Amino acid sequence: MKVDVLLGLQWGDEGKGKIVDVLTPKYDIISRFQGGPNAGHTLEFEGTKHVLHTIPSGIFRDGVMNLVGNGVVIDPVIFQAELVKLKPFNLDIPSRLIISKKAHLILPTHRILDAASEVAKGKNKIGSTLKGIGPTYMDKTGRNGLRVGDIYSPRFEEKYKALVEKHEAMLKRFPDFVYNLDELEGPWMEAIEKLKELQAVDSEQYINDAIKAGKKVLAEGAQGTMLDVDFGTYPFVTSSNTVTAGTCTGLGVPPTKIGNVIGIFKAYCTRVGSGPFPTELEGEVGEKIRKEGFEFGATTGRPRRCGWIDIPQLKYAIMINGVSELSMMKADVLDNFETIQACTHYMIDGERYDYFPYDVNDVEVIPVYEEIKAWNCDTTKLRSIDDAPAELKAYVTYLEQKLEVPITVVSVGPDRTQTLSNKVIA
Ligand code: GDP
Ligand code: IMO
Ligand code: MG
Repeated sequence: MKVDVLLGLQWGDEGKGKIVDVLTPKYDIISRFQGGPNAGHTLEFEGTKHVLHTIPSGIFRDGVMNLVGNGVVIDPVIFQAELVKLKPFNLDIPSRLIISKKAHLILPTHRILDAASEVAKGKNKIGSTLKGIGPTYMDKTGRNGLRVGDIYSPRFEEKYKALVEKHEAMLKRFPDFVYNLDELEGPWMEAIEKLKELQAVDSEQYINDAIKAGKKVLAEGAQGTMLDVDFGTYPFVTSSNTVTAGTCTGLGVPPTKIGNVIGIFKAYCTRVGSGPFPTELEGEVGEKIRKEGFEFGATTGRPRRCGWIDIPQLKYAIMINGVSELSMMKADVLDNFETIQACTHYMIDGERYDYFPYDVNDVEVIPVYEEIKAWNCDTTKLRSIDDAPAELKAYVTYLEQKLEVPITVVSVGPDRTQTLSNKVIA
């Protein structure tokens, strides 16, 4: 069997959690391969909304294993809080959740360093979720990190202290930044003890054995392609590879074992945090999309920046990821528009650009739009694409033609049931 991948094609929050939950019954294993508690993945069913940060979005379905892969960074305190929130649902967690021994740990000092560094950047700040993501990945690539497998070592405390000492020396660069490590360390150590109640595995072996045994695996991306550390709007990005290639390094899956790549995007576009966003709408229309789409961060609660769909940006993301099918999310958010717009290309210094340019941070990118007649009616009660208004069907066809990839799912609301299947993929 091959590993299917589901990932975001924009700047995150496309609705990955919802679709992973919808697709889970088709799989044996759901695995996260990068990112950490900067992610906030929302699932809704039977009238309840759930937000997951580190735990894969397959956790609510019986008979499915959820794996936190080696490419993920784990804050044990946040992880524990997520598990506590799941308690009322009586899921047998140890039988459905395992973690990689090679996943890196977010220390309290990583979070402090993240915050100090953002404050020091002033108006150039990244707009980080302040979960310690950047400093943890820095320690990973700098070969100083602590991993889940280390917590079983008799030398764990010694290793922890050595890393904290290094961080304290780094924090001297920010003399005005006040922090209290003592109050964070106790809960962190307690959460490390709790982490031991879960099974830590050699996940690359586990997953490759599973593939060999014919098990079906879905890899769940976090963030989005435009936040990828290599291919996103650097430096306004996260610190991991959010693209398909990240599945290989973040799970130990060989490239030859990658199957379907499901790219997920909103019928419009959003971004949270700083950085370029060519189709951003700062006026009334942006405000209307934010209100109708309830565009506030699932992790930080920050208002998301909103804009129209950006076709060159999506084509770029499809190219990088090798996307084989698309899910279009939040179509219902555009239910109260008579017309909508799609950016078909950009103008920079009087020249036409049909692709996402390198210097998008530094130049004035003028999006050129095509106006599209919208459906202007309620789609949230639709249960079949056949019953969809002609204008919505036409929008889907228009995007399929522009993007040259089939849209197999159209989502018309946050609930599991508000998911329309557009074409059946063999
Ligand atoms: P993720 O990070 O990609 O999993 O996405 P988030 O959970 O951060 O943000 C997506 C938000 O949109 C959540 O509040 C979802 O409940 C909601 N959502 C997902 N699909 C739809 C949809 O089709 N329509 C509407 N109105 N909301 C949706
Ligand atoms: P999900 O998985 C949207 C953004 C932050 C910031 C930048 C760097 O829910 O789609 P970091 O905390 O990684 O140092 O922040 O990336 N960001 C996200 N935006 N959705 C996310 O995850 C994000 N994770 C990080 O807002 O601009
Ligand atoms: Mg999110």
